Amino acid sequence: MGQIDTNREQWGSRLGFILAAMGSAVGLGNIWRFSYVTGENGGAAFLLIYFFFIIFIGIPIVMAEFTIGKRAQSDVVGSFEEIAPGKPWVIAGFMGVASAFIILSFYGVIAGWTVRYFIHYLTGGITVENDAQYVDVFLNFITNPLQPLLWQFLFMALTIGIVYVGVKKGIEKTNKILMPLLAILVIILAGYSLTLGGASDALSFLFTPDWSKLSDPNVYLAALGQAFFSLSLGMGALITYGSYLSKKEKLPGAAASVAALDTVFALIAGLMIFPAVFAFGIQPDEGPGLVFIALPSIFDNMAYGTLFGGVFFFLLAVAALSSSVSLLEVAVAYFIRKFNWTRQKTTIIIGGIIFIIGVPSSLSQGNWSHITFFGASILDSMDFIASNILLPLGGLLIALFVGWGWKKSDALEASDFGDTLLGNSWIFILRYFAPIAIFIVFLASIGVF
Ligand code: PHE
Repeated sequence: MGQIDTNREQWGSRLGFILAAMGSAVGLGNIWRFSYVTGENGGAAFLLIYFFFIIFIGIPIVMAEFTIGKRAQSDVVGSFEEIAPGKPWVIAGFMGVASAFIILSFYGVIAGWTVRYFIHYLTGGITVENDAQYVDVFLNFITNPLQPLLWQFLFMALTIGIVYVGVKKGIEKTNKILMPLLAILVIILAGYSLTLGGASDALSFLFTPDWSKLSDPNVYLAALGQAFFSLSLGMGALITYGSYLSKKEKLPGAAASVAALDTVFALIAGLMIFPAVFAFGIQPDEGPGLVFIALPSIFDNMAYGTLFGGVFFFLLAVAALSSSVSLLEVAVAYFIRKFNWTRQKTTIIIGGIIFIIGVPSSLSQGNWSHITFFGASILDSMDFIASNILLPLGGLLIALFVGWGWKKSDALEASDFGDTLLGNSWIFILRYFAPIAIFIVFLASIGVF
């Protein structure tokens, strides 16, 4: 073991750590991304694969990231160097830092849209003559060259502000009250949405699988990408958060609770969005704009809709903030150590660069919409590369690292599992099941089978 840096921060408590990890996991991924990806991939069959991946690939790798971070007490790159000096595993660390840049660049764009919708409701709501016009309101906004950039800038400034102050002060407390509030609100809205007349269509869309979808490899890739994105997995966010945990704290349980909360959140968000989608004749495969079109219809129809709309978008923006903070922290933690800069300087420089990288994603919805890769906009391409390729690949390396690059007894001890049945099953999944499954999904999606 190397010298332990006594200046590194630590969480105030185990609960603080779990809440921060939950704050990272629960965000736009559960509401914005979950609903549009579920919609695009046909609903129930996708969901089934998604749940399977969460349980058998996601949770074990969440546990692997926590274990690496807690044991190494360093950032995503430093953790691999600490545990396996001079070995190529550190590539996974660099991929993680790269993923943080890419994901946060477009995450800031969507979060900016969220903040804009919050302001809409704060200032009286959105007025339209019929529900179909919510599409126009949305498109008018995102195709404007300047407006979305301003909101993205504002959101990135908030993210930078929190990371600037530091992990413990900035991150730990933010979500303690607001996340439960968002959960309650999403449950209320789901209850209301189910009364709008689209409930039976929505329930069969979400829970009656069209088995023919199981033969489409892209559905598997989409489910894998969504599982990683939603769990904040595969790029070291959870390694970095695990590293602020004191060595005394015990891990088992934390991984499962984070994944369970994240998944339940997404499911209830689905019950909120899809009944409205069917009730108002919106196409489920509308794409990334889905929630910004479906939700205003709900608020328009309900009593106190403007108030609910305002509170909802506020809480969603806060949930996005606790996720964006974890993305920025991955890069910042690395560069603080790498260049020996102060946290403040690092945060502003890296956060500023990430904002600039995000500008093309924002413009790709309007003026730059002619620039496409395989038919996808810049924003969608960024999302695809990071979520469907880099994160699962990062997860694959992390699984192999703990499974093979680490002595089994050491890994079991560091994970707090010990030599138990659960611990041995975990190692088995990391050694064989998860890497092979991810590999097969990759091969299938490029048409090998
Ligand atoms: N999990 C976050 C969300 O669902 C996004 C995220 C991905 C955060 C990767 C950190 C790392 O919104």
